[in-house]
Amino acid sequence: MSIKWGVIGAGGIADRRTIPEGIVGAEKAELVAVQDIDAQRIEEVAAKYGVTKYDTEYDLLSDDNVQAVYIATPNQLHHGQVLAAAAAGKDVLCEKPLALTLADSEEMVEACRDAGVKLGINFMMRFHACHTAIKAIIEAGDLGTLVMGRAELTCWYPPIPGAFRQNPALGGGGAFADMGNHCVDLLEMLFGRTERVSCFIGNLVQDYPAEDTAVALLEFESGAKGVVDALFNVPDVAAHNALEVYGSKGSVVSFGTIGQESGGSMTAVLETGDKEYDAAQARDEDPSQVIEPEPVNIYAAHINAFCEAIENDTDPPITGEDGIWNHKVIEACYKSAQTGEAVDIE
Ligand SMILES: NC(=O)c1ccc[n+]([C@@H]2O[C@H](COP(=O)([O-])OP(=O)(O)OC[C@H]3O[C@@H](n4cnc5c(N)ncnc54)[C@H](O)[C@@H]3O)[C@@H](O)[C@H]2O)c1
Repeated sequence: MSIKWGVIGAGGIADRRTIPEGIVGAEKAELVAVQDIDAQRIEEVAAKYGVTKYDTEYDLLSDDNVQAVYIATPNQLHHGQVLAAAAAGKDVLCEKPLALTLADSEEMVEACRDAGVKLGINFMMRFHACHTAIKAIIEAGDLGTLVMGRAELTCWYPPIPGAFRQNPALGGGGAFADMGNHCVDLLEMLFGRTERVSCFIGNLVQDYPAEDTAVALLEFESGAKGVVDALFNVPDVAAHNALEVYGSKGSVVSFGTIGQESGGSMTAVLETGDKEYDAAQARDEDPSQVIEPEPVNIYAAHINAFCEAIENDTDPPITGEDGIWNHKVIEACYKSAQTGEAVDIE
């Protein structure tokens, strides 16, 4: 049985990735309807996938054939559209961030709970084969005691008139709210919850109100530390988009795996024998091993897992509550950047 999907805001990332790779690409999903405010885009997108098109989200939400909706509109619209989807009794996968404010995110989760529909947030990078391989290495104890992690996401993002990400009133922030949230989510998948943050933001290159540079230090409940860097001002080709994890027995690093791509690479250095203090700290040989997990399309994997949750009536793989928690961490980082002080997360 496949779950029938409708898409609200079908002209951006939906058409670039989530529809072709995720919904069309997932064996448990079927695309049946699309909607976008841009009349020409929706004409093209509906024709491309051969599905019904709607002018408004309310028309799409009234279609009895649609079981689940994917919302991929600019951030400031998520709140109202998720509430409308809940009222229409549709399960919802919403893009990140859930909303611009914590209160709105909480209202969305509550509305979906009250309506008995599922709410998920699209942190699809959790499904990357390298990231799940890193998690397995950690769970096997091969890194020993986790000490430090770093997640980096960079994209060259020059000024574009009207772009919601460049205006905090529409995007909820800048590079950190847009990309740092994925990085926080990935580090927490490996390290557990964040307890305290310290963050610095600024505009070093791009001329718009949202920050183009954000670096946050996280302290996890375990005591391990994390670093997130989210940058709108380094050329795409120069970015490593790396996930690094260090522990008392080794390290593992994946390159080019944080982002929209399902490819990339990873290496690990794992201590096998007893180690003693080496005053020379000799590193003549490269002890790293290349690890090549079977690739998985991150969009299809998340859509399939969401469909399974509908089929089996279980929680979605990444829940609305996860979105609320992520919002709290991001908000604490912005508060720290404003006040210049470390901030505890409640
Ligand atoms: N998970 C990911 O890989 C990923 C990647 C990029 C963007 N995103 C998220 O997806 C969302 C959209 O980002 P984007 O880059 O696609 O933006 P975009 O501006 O490229 O596309 C947004 C689409 O929504 C449409 N739209 C605007 N107002 C609308 C309305 N009232 N009703 C219906 N459609 C409307 C626009 O016409 C456009 O087609 C954001 O929340 C962003 O954070 C996620």
